[in-house]
Amino acid sequence: MKYAILLCLAGTFVSTLANAEPIADRKALMKSNGEAMGVLGATAKGERAFDAAAVMAALEQLNANAEKLDVEALFPEGSGTGDTKAAPKIWEDMAGFTAAADKYKEAAAAAVAAAPDSLETLQPQVGAIGQTCGACHETYRLPST
Ligand code: HEC
Repeated sequence: MKYAILLCLAGTFVSTLANAEPIADRKALMKSNGEAMGVLGATAKGERAFDAAAVMAALEQLNANAEKLDVEALFPEGSGTGDTKAAPKIWEDMAGFTAAADKYKEAAAAAVAAAPDSLETLQPQVGAIGQTCGACHETYRLPST
């Protein structure tokens, strides 16, 4: 009996550890997205002077993050518990979640390819990327408490 309890505890501990890594990795990736979008959003709104180099750096950061967003590795089955805002809906609708990730990847790649060099050319790209972030969060991220 004692051993059974110990085994149970060990199992919980191991699964908590196994979850910690993809959760931390995906949060770090999303945090970096947030930083890049901070620069891009402020520039698009005219709150920050247009700086083509800073804009390209932020777009490339977003695109690199998009390429790293491996849905299977970062959102493995069972990683919906712990210190995470990932919604259970992700694992109920993996196809929809993957499609939402693909839209963001496409928007980030398209923005880098477009290489916006003015406020007018940047704004639609930021709008398109922002929409993909928002669409995914609305369905697949739990609201902040
Ligand atoms: C395919 C879905 C998806 C897309 C696309 C997406 N996110 Fe997220 N985002 C999530 C999920 C799910 C979480 C919650 C992760 C967790 O807590 O485990 C999250 C969390 C975050 C966080 C909080 C990170 C933290 O420190 O806890 C920020 C900031 C963020 N996203 C910004 C962005 C931005 C900016 C974009 C677009 C450039 C974006 N996200 C695109 C799904 C997405």
